[in-house]
Amino acid sequence: LQARFDQEIAAAADLAALDGVRVAALGKSGEITQLLKSLGKMDADTRTAEAPKIHSLREAVTDAIAAKKAALEGAELERRLATERLDLSLPSAEAPRGSIHPVSQVMDELTEIFADLGFSVAEGPEIEDDWHNFSALNIPETHPARAMQDTFYMDEKGEDGAPMVLRTHTSPVQIRTMQKKQPPIRIIAPGRVYRSDSDATHTPMFHQIEGLVIDKAITLGHLKWTLETFLKAFFERDDVVLRMRPSYFPFTEPSAEVDVGWSMEKGRRVVGGSEGWMEVLGSGMVHPKVIAACGLDPDEWQGFAFGTGVDRLAMLKYGMDDLRAFFDGDLRWMKHYGFRF
Ligand code: PHE
Repeated sequence: LQARFDQEIAAAADLAALDGVRVAALGKSGEITQLLKSLGKMDADTRTAEAPKIHSLREAVTDAIAAKKAALEGAELERRLATERLDLSLPSAEAPRGSIHPVSQVMDELTEIFADLGFSVAEGPEIEDDWHNFSALNIPETHPARAMQDTFYMDEKGEDGAPMVLRTHTSPVQIRTMQKKQPPIRIIAPGRVYRSDSDATHTPMFHQIEGLVIDKAITLGHLKWTLETFLKAFFERDDVVLRMRPSYFPFTEPSAEVDVGWSMEKGRRVVGGSEGWMEVLGSGMVHPKVIAACGLDPDEWQGFAFGTGVDRLAMLKYGMDDLRAFFDGDLRWMKHYGFRF
């Protein structure tokens, strides 16, 4: 029996064949296993005679299988070493790389520009209560601006008993900052805002950046200088021209809409010069009622605020034409416009 197993083991060409031999000999119903079981049925003398033989057979076959297994594995390794080569001089396969979304890129650019001007970043919740989003900003219950802003309402009610809203602008961060901090205040607040509006230039979610400065002797002149400095730095051109038009926001008085001049370059409209104008932001001097609503004395503190669309700034700077493409998640678009890091 040993000779037969030795021969079968020697003949096994691969690990699978060898395992077949192992099962046939030592498996649950293998031949050697059967022999071991038969020991129980023998009388004492026969068992004394047979047991050592069967045990040594089992040991010999077990060892032979282990030796063959090692040999087969060694051969397999040799074969792979001989056939598989790693050429370290070959160029590596290109792994897909992420890129920075243009909105994130522009938010970073804006944050850096304003950091240089001494502004820090403030944040507020995207699900906002009615008071912070509207009332404290001097937008009363009946004000048409509430309808104007196409608000998404939540089922939940806020502390004031009114339904919570998805914030329609970043201006509530003005309120939260003034409630929390003693002036002087110099903050920007970039973030997501929501309005139920959708076409080529409007998406239900978009991004704004708010600016707020509160101090003792802040004037419209400071506002204009800040906006001019920021827009020149952002568009990286010295010929950026601003035009401030009187406007109305409930939370600023006086209020101004700010246009930036454009001109045609290589058949494309670019920011700079003044062949035409386009609106880029809303701004004004913070309304005394807003300052008072935050618990500050409007006779002591005053300042300016502005708000602008980050996505629109990105489109203008990088020549993109459909706002919706920003949020489609189309990797081809991302590859084209995304920023490598
Ligand atoms: N919150 C205004 C908007 O969303 C923008 C704005 C901010 C205007 C601050 C004036 C001052 O349109």
